[in-house]
Amino acid sequence: MDKLIIRGGNRLSGTIPISGAKNAALTLIPCALLTEEPVTLRNLPRLADIDGFQHLMGQFGVAHTIQGQRPEDFGRVVTLEATRLTGTVAPYELVRKMRASILVLGPMLARMGEATVSLPGGCAIGNRPIDLHLKALEAFGAHIELAQGYVKASAPDGGLPGGDFDFPIVSVGATENALMAAVLCNGTSRLINAAREPEIVDLCRLLTAMGAEIEGIGTSELTIHGAKRLHGATYRVMPDRIEAGSYACAAAITGGDVRLEGAEAEDMGSTLHALRNIGVEIESDKKGIDVRANGPLKAHNLTTAPFPGLATDMQAQLMSLLTRAEGTSVLKETIFENRFMHVPELARMGADIETEGRTAIVRGPVNLTGAEVMATDLRASMSLVIAGLAAEGETTVRRLYHLDRGYERLEEKLQLVGADIERVGDD
Ligand code: EPZ
Repeated sequence: MDKLIIRGGNRLSGTIPISGAKNAALTLIPCALLTEEPVTLRNLPRLADIDGFQHLMGQFGVAHTIQGQRPEDFGRVVTLEATRLTGTVAPYELVRKMRASILVLGPMLARMGEATVSLPGGCAIGNRPIDLHLKALEAFGAHIELAQGYVKASAPDGGLPGGDFDFPIVSVGATENALMAAVLCNGTSRLINAAREPEIVDLCRLLTAMGAEIEGIGTSELTIHGAKRLHGATYRVMPDRIEAGSYACAAAITGGDVRLEGAEAEDMGSTLHALRNIGVEIESDKKGIDVRANGPLKAHNLTTAPFPGLATDMQAQLMSLLTRAEGTSVLKETIFENRFMHVPELARMGADIETEGRTAIVRGPVNLTGAEVMATDLRASMSLVIAGLAAEGETTVRRLYHLDRGYERLEEKLQLVGADIERVGDD
């Protein structure tokens, strides 16, 4: 396994190209199941999770071709063809490695009338149930059975009738699965209290490009008029708002001046608002966002919430930044039950953080010192990299497979703006 060695203290300066959004790509890829025609996705990030998903799609007989890509390019163009599906089972050994595999359930059920997907199980940040995915599909007329650790879903002979579902809590994945089933239902379906994350809007845009009829895109109430069939499309994945927010924190903690090329400010409202309150200068234009931090950082209270609230995926990264801010910041994590795994590791670098349930109290500024740290989940790992960039001395981050799931060529992007960071084999 590889590890990252970071020697902190360099002020980051220059331009970082932002890749396509992992959490959009993971719901756009299974859309290929909804049609026999080719679906081409541009700006697909080169990430372990994306490769894993394409491997899963191959299990069903979905062909994928990667179009012309030079090694130095970020992202790739992939065409997926689900002309004839040879299987409808997503096996445990694949689903357990990547829980987003559950997103094949809705489209596979809608296209084939049946789908069998291993229950994804929990992960480091929480037990991550899928009850809302299943309740939404049942509301559309699906029969759901749980047996031997698998979800077996089936539709009536004439196909899913469709129906209404009111989400008791906002769920990004359940909204995505429901949308990808509703587009091929016989009737009209309504999703109430649907997630409004930009990745949902990206999904609605691809589905519309494929011929789906969706009203209320971007709002929490979606009406979907089922279609008999959908056709192929070519679509460009939106920029990754969490990757961009992560590099904004990296720039800020080093007192840097970095341009996030391709980042979309309107997807990042709450993150940019938090950074401005912490004292970071943010300017945006149609092509990207400029992040400048040349004054003292100020403590600021943060509470995560469904979009347009502060993204839970930004909590760990902002916490690292706040260890360097003057004053006490209170961070509340309202989405997942165990998303403070980065705290003990940050403490080993000198951070002064107290946690009580889903609340963390960060006192600053502290002088961070380099240490050997362990990545535990994707965003926690990034928070350790951010801290390492500002720490005195050397930080070694192990278990990089967590990072490689969500950050395309992280060390190369940070080297572009002057970070002293290298990836080495872990002896
Ligand atoms: C998506 O996960 C993202 N993953 C997560 O990003 C992100 O943190 C999360 O949305 C929230 O924004 C992908 O898009 C691949 P949820 P998802 O369903 O869909 C509970 C990252 O770092 N819930 O919105 O799994 C759930 O336990 C990852 O990139 C149910 O109770 O999140 C959680 O407490 C981490 N029942 C809350 O809802 C369900 O059926 C929100 O989960 C589904 C969810």
